[in-house]
This record gives sequence, C-alpha cells and structure tokens, in this order.
Amino acid sequence: MPPRHLPVSLQEDVPLASRTTIGVGGPARFLASCRGPRDVASCLEWAADQHLEVFVLGGGSNLLVADQGFAGLVIRLEYSEVTLSTGPSGAHIQAGAGAEWDALTARAVRENLAGIECLGGIPGTVGAAPIQNIGAYGQEVAETIDWLQVIDRHDGRTRHVTAADCRFGYRTSAFKTSWHDRFVIVRVAFRLRPRGEPTVRYDELARRLEQACPGRKPTLADVREAVLSIRASKSMLYDPADPDGRSAGSFFTNPVVSPAVARRVRDMAARGARTGRPVPQFPASNGKIKLSAGWLIEEAGFPRGFRQGRVALSSKHALAIVNPGGATAAEIVELASSIRQAVLERFGVSLVPEPRLLGFDSGVLQRLGILA
Ligand code: EPU
Repeated sequence: MPPRHLPVSLQEDVPLASRTTIGVGGPARFLASCRGPRDVASCLEWAADQHLEVFVLGGGSNLLVADQGFAGLVIRLEYSEVTLSTGPSGAHIQAGAGAEWDALTARAVRENLAGIECLGGIPGTVGAAPIQNIGAYGQEVAETIDWLQVIDRHDGRTRHVTAADCRFGYRTSAFKTSWHDRFVIVRVAFRLRPRGEPTVRYDELARRLEQACPGRKPTLADVREAVLSIRASKSMLYDPADPDGRSAGSFFTNPVVSPAVARRVRDMAARGARTGRPVPQFPASNGKIKLSAGWLIEEAGFPRGFRQGRVALSSKHALAIVNPGGATAAEIVELASSIRQAVLERFGVSLVPEPRLLGFDSGVLQRLGILA
C-alpha cells in the first residue's frame, strides 16, 4: 500500500489504453497526478523506495503500452501554465510540461510569434515535445527551444539544461540516448520571433498555400490552417471517431542512409516498383539522405489500408499503424515486425520504431530492433 505521507493522489491498477491515442495496452500498477515539480520529486523518492520503475506520461500520442501493462509508477504532469514575455531579444514563452502542445502553437500564432506555426495539430504535451524533437512540414521544435527545467531522477534536484545540452537531431535528443530515463522535463522555454516570417520549406505545404492564398504572402495563421488541413487529409489529427486516426503517429522514423544506399534503393525500386513512384528522398545532415519510410513500406508489400486481423495501416498513410477497434498490443507488434522484416529483406534498410514502447519484454524490443 502507498504510504500516507505521499502528497499526491495515487491510483492503483489504472487502465492506460484510453490514455493513449492508439488505444491499446494494459494497466499501470500505480498512477500519480503531479501538480508541480515538488510532487514529482516526492513521487520519484517514493518509487525508489518501492523499487518501482517510473514512466512519465504525456498525451499518450507516441506510446505503445504492452497488453500486460506496466508494473511501475506512471506520473502525469498536471501543470500547464504558460507565460509570455517580449523584449529586445525576441519573445519568450515558458510552458509547464503538461500544457497541450497544439494549444501552445495556436497561442504563438495568435500572438504573431513565428517559430512553431508548422507544428500545429501534433497531439501530445509540451513536456514530451523535446524528447523526440517533434517535427513536421519543415520545422522542428529544436529550432525554438531555449532551455528546459528538468528534475534529475538520481537526486530529485531541479536543473536547468540548454538546447545545446540536449543534442537534438532528427526525431532524437539526449533524452532518448545518453539521458534516457534520467530527467523529468517540467518546463520548456521557447524563443520565438515577433512578427517573423512563417517557415515554408516543405513542398506540399507551399503548394497548399499557393491554392489557399494565391498572389499574397502567407501569414502565420495561413500556415497553421494549411498544416491543419494537410494533417486532416492524412488522418494525422487525433480523432477517436476516425479509425485511421487511432494511431501513435508515424510508427517508424524515416531512415537516414548514405548516398550509396539511397542509390541502391532507387535502382532496386526502378525494377519491379509497386507504387510506380520513385523513392522520395530528402537531404539530411552530414551529406546523408532521408528516405520515406511510408514509401519503403508500400514497396515492401504493405499498401495503405493493409489489414492484418484487427490491426491495419492507415488508408491514407502507410507509416501509421492503426487500431480500427479491438486490436491488442501484441497484434500491433506482430504487424510492425513483419513490416520491418519485409523492408529489410527487400531493401536492406532497417526501420526504427518511433513510439515509446512501455512494459514489453526484451524479446519484443529485439524483434523491433530497439534492443540489440
Ligand atoms: N509516402 C508514401 N507512402 C505513404 C506515405 C507517404 O509513399 O504511405 C511518401 C509521400 O508521397 C511523400 C513522402 O512519403 O512523398 C513524405 O510523406 P509525408 O509528407 O506524409 O511525410 P512523412 O515523411 O511520411 C514525416 C513525419 C511526420 C510529419 C510529416 C510532415 C517522420 C517519421 N514522420 O512523415 O511526423 O507529420 O513528415 O512533415 O518523420 C510523426 O512523427 O509521428 C509524424 C506524423
């Protein structure tokens, strides 16, 4: 039983499926709702005493929970205050980790602050955004993060880390690598550009804007609207009533490969292509090339709308594994590993899962290429 002095409300055996956008998985042994960093520190101490693993739950939009659930303590961060200040060095927004990400991007656009206008419609919380360096339509959150306030799980102390400390990269940061499970993010500070130009780097976004506002420069609000409409057309806005929308977003990251591998994929696809389109390629850092995982998946024999029992691929995007209703986590893992295997066999490229996997045994993590 939890000790009485724990100053937060603690629930036992709490279903997690309904707290994730993909809607599968078993319960958490304990769940605590924290209203501030002090609550987090006492939960961490309590969990250490009980030898319990701790997981911090955001919006559950990038999470797959195992059917047997999670035998540790899940922490929910219930603080979401947002403060805005503008000065000569730009505009600063500070937001509590529990704030809803999309609401923050909407607020920035309303205040005419540039920097996160392409990131509207991404489900989840502010505290989760830096972990995988969320990105869409030519923008990444790393571009505007100034600093973060975190709690060190080792000693319960609050620390300040800068964006440079976080070693952000494509869908990654130190929070996923060298700092894995070391810190709890409690607050994020962003530096935005007052009345700045919107970012229009992504072809699909530029085309949508040409249609939406022909002959004039798009505003930040135009860009937000265009991004939301593209996301809606791909079921990438969370809508529990849309079976294509019950996903964890992209299930795999886009593989970043050498030019030689990219050439090989292009040549292989030229012989016996299924989609009839060349592989979409985007320049990445260090002369590397980012390939479209959605395209690789389709070419390997898993078209949009593919169905395997109670699990499917979105009918609008092969990169999203969806739960049309009644799927289990085991079935999702089954489909994901068949896809990985098929892409590996056809192209020699290993897909890496993007969502966080919680409560799975090492065998599953190995099959999905997360553990060596
Ligand atoms: N494509 C296919 N088949 C598909 C889906 C896409 O061939 O089933 C091709 C498209 O034709 C296009 C290219 O892949 O040429 C890129 O597609 P899209 O613009 O949808 O982007 P993505 O690379 O598949 C990434 C992010 C998304 C983000 C979009 C837009 C990753 C893993 N995913 O997807 O982020 O919204 O770009 O910027 O980087 C997420 O991370 O969960 C996520 C949804």
